[in-house]
Amino acid sequence: MSDRQLISMFTDYFKNEPSHFIRVPGRVNLIGEHTDYNGFPVMPIAIPRYIQAVISPLDGNQVNISNTDHHHEPASFEATIDMPHSPKGNWANYVKAAIQALSSGIRGNQSGMNAMFGGAVPLSAGLSSSSALVVTSALAFLAVNGQKVEPISLAEKMAEGERYVGTQGGGMDQAICLLGKEGYAVKIDFFPLRATYVPFPADYSIIVANSLVRAAKTENALMHYNRRPAECRLAVAVINTLYCHDKPIQRLGDLPEVNGFTSILDNAENFVNDTFSESSYTLTDLAGITGESENMLAEKYLMTRSGQPMPVPSDGFLVRQRALHVFTEAGRVEKSRVALTSGDVESFGALMNASHESCDTLYGLSTPELNALVGIMKDHGAYGARLTGAGFGGCAVALVHDDNLENILSGVKEHYYLGYIPKHRSDLGGFDNFDEVVFPVKPADGGFTELL
Ligand code: GLA
Repeated sequence: MSDRQLISMFTDYFKNEPSHFIRVPGRVNLIGEHTDYNGFPVMPIAIPRYIQAVISPLDGNQVNISNTDHHHEPASFEATIDMPHSPKGNWANYVKAAIQALSSGIRGNQSGMNAMFGGAVPLSAGLSSSSALVVTSALAFLAVNGQKVEPISLAEKMAEGERYVGTQGGGMDQAICLLGKEGYAVKIDFFPLRATYVPFPADYSIIVANSLVRAAKTENALMHYNRRPAECRLAVAVINTLYCHDKPIQRLGDLPEVNGFTSILDNAENFVNDTFSESSYTLTDLAGITGESENMLAEKYLMTRSGQPMPVPSDGFLVRQRALHVFTEAGRVEKSRVALTSGDVESFGALMNASHESCDTLYGLSTPELNALVGIMKDHGAYGARLTGAGFGGCAVALVHDDNLENILSGVKEHYYLGYIPKHRSDLGGFDNFDEVVFPVKPADGGFTELL
């Protein structure tokens, strides 16, 4: 849908003239998966698939939202810091997430808004459509209130704000939505948030291929996702007991700062093997190591937004595997920055492959469908291929020379969508044309607001 069409839908629906247009990209993470909430860096790109909104201010704090996608029903609510949630899974919660995070910072009388949202970031595909919606809502709410917040600090606020919907995510998605830059991957560090721009080779693209397995962060995947940060927190508890009594670390990413552990990323395997002798831990095991009661551990490390601790996974806490992935993945991000900076696509591709392997075997993020896609893209000459984003479905991505784009795109169509899917997952499908599910991208700019 063009910008013009969105504006005319706004005018037809709200019967007034819009004041601002907002556009925010989705993202592909090139490398650094599940490292952000651990305080280690990530390296995503913003992609030219956008969430857009056309808005106008309203006196008072009423917010009326509508969406060009008829699956997303219109909603109206009052903007307050403690807004009640809409039903679980409802898109209005993402708009509310942004507004409640900003409300306390609005000076003077707060304005509400009319807003028509549209866009083409594929949903539940691991391309960050939800954070793009949160960031779009934030830019919208700031615009109608005549306020500006610097991108870095807005990204931090939105990462916190998105917890309103229940994900214990890190800050990658909100940051890249705002900090993306055409022609560059962005290495993002956290606590505090920092961006380093890394040139992306001009004659290469990233192919994005949707496995068609939904990876909605509000559904089952939310539980699978939230388990990982909890296991990492438990790893931190063990490390603190064993090595960091005097100066406990908060996240795995703090460990390289601790005396004696500065080269942990080069030594991850030995360290993890020495520290975690079991391949699976019960809460009783962890209580024995840390000297804390099981109840105390559950309260400190396993709490969910509902106020209940998350259930103990049937296969136990895989603390060793999670820690090994996080440390080795952090090492790969830095090596990737170096490789891309010197234009060494072969090394970068190999790092992507190693990342996929680790995401699959140590962090349990992949699916048979994602593995099939990764295999097909590599077989057709991709330099590297991996799942992207939270995992449990969604998209695989591959680094491809532009001369080989057509070959890989047609290979994926033939072998995945017309081969693998009908054979193994005939329940999946539901797209009208291939360009919606498999497409090449190059790094795009981050979100912006335009006065109309
Ligand atoms: C989701 C989260 C991010 C990050 C990725 C995994 O997209 O929102 O913060 O943790 O998963 O790398």
